Amino acid sequence: MVLARGARLAALAALAGVALNTNLRQSAMYALKAAQFLVHGSWSYTHGGYEKHRRAYFRPDDLAVDLRDRHVLVTGANTGIGYCAAEALGMRGATVHLLCRNRERGEAAKTKLEQRLAERTGTSVPKEDTCSPQGRVLLHVVDVSETQSIRHFVREYADRGFPAPSVLVHNAGAMTSPWAATREGVEVNFATNVLGPVLLTDLLLPSMIQDEKRDHRVIFVSSAGMLTERLETEDLEWRDRARFDATRQYAKNKRQQIAIVEHYARTVPPERVLFMACHPGWVETPLVRQAMPGFYARMREGLRTPEQGADTIVWLSCVDRGRLQSGGFYFDRAPAAKHLPLSDTSYPPRNAEKLYQRIRQRTGEIAPTTERDEAKIAAEN
Ligand SMILES: NC(=O)c1ccc[n+]([C@@H]2O[C@H](COP(=O)([O-])OP(=O)(O)OC[C@H]3O[C@@H](n4cnc5c(N)ncnc54)[C@H](OP(=O)(O)O)[C@@H]3O)[C@@H](O)[C@H]2O)c1
Repeated sequence: MVLARGARLAALAALAGVALNTNLRQSAMYALKAAQFLVHGSWSYTHGGYEKHRRAYFRPDDLAVDLRDRHVLVTGANTGIGYCAAEALGMRGATVHLLCRNRERGEAAKTKLEQRLAERTGTSVPKEDTCSPQGRVLLHVVDVSETQSIRHFVREYADRGFPAPSVLVHNAGAMTSPWAATREGVEVNFATNVLGPVLLTDLLLPSMIQDEKRDHRVIFVSSAGMLTERLETEDLEWRDRARFDATRQYAKNKRQQIAIVEHYARTVPPERVLFMACHPGWVETPLVRQAMPGFYARMREGLRTPEQGADTIVWLSCVDRGRLQSGGFYFDRAPAAKHLPLSDTSYPPRNAEKLYQRIRQRTGEIAPTTERDEAKIAAEN
């Protein structure tokens, strides 16, 4: 009896020891990854890092392209990196579709962009900005965290006769705290950063694949913050709400974007559609100011401008497609590593596939749009 109790205690102690060791190991690994990320970031992701890279290897001619017959979709295009990407692509003649969740902010961005395009037309500007006359700007009110809003947009886009997008930029991003759900019951960060972009891609993909033009690109604006996280395929919406950590959920979402890009690259022929993810660097935008006030206060002087943050998105949209690798992760116009040295973040391809299927399953659980919902969305827009 005493012996059995002793054995049970010993077993419990051993289990506790293993758990403690595992926790310690995991904490140490996380601290190591975070430290590497910060050291590397201070050197590379800053304004100074951008200038170093620009001087070392940027080729201005890469952006000297005429996008006049191209339709480009940018989510979260009313401010920050998204606005700057939309403006740079409009400057090259693209028809730019601004996908914004708020009509007023979207209208303000559209007006500003139209004015900027009009100012540039006919003026003498650097070669890399001059290739074509101004493009058109269209605003669509879309909340990318809500499947109904996305479905409504895609139907309307097709009904209005717009062609398959040449470039789809998933730029809208969220890092919100505390834990909250969308009206459809999905955790907000996951809904905005992952679930919505996957649905939008899936709904637009058939038209891109079938299109004869055959230069279609889908770009996910991820973040090097993903380097600190492993691929999460189980707890997509952070069920333990009391322990919710928005910074980590955001980084997990950004890692999931990398895996999703790899999944699409494996399943869609690159001669039809290219899929890329990128990191904009550390950029002075409302997202950083509001969601990371401590980081913002420390790094403020070194942050990039939104134009610099948008640069790799613009490059991925413009550069000769032969220089791009579908499934790749890019930073400052060059392929970048997806894993830090000595980190345990790599995963087999089947995990990316599993993640994609779980997202599809979650999307399927959300009630499809009824006619009443349609009327409501149309009225809200
Ligand atoms: N700034 C950085 O240092 C940094 C670093 C790495 C990656 N990124 C990534 O860069 C992208 C752009 O971020 P940013 O820094 O430019 O931030 P930002 O200026 O705050 O822009 C975020 C944009 O996303 C929009 N948005 C958020 N939720 C949305 C939703 N549900 N539906 C539609 N639009 C929505 C916002 O709209 P509202 O104006 O209506 O809120 C805003 O237009 C994000 O994906 C972010 O994760 C940024």
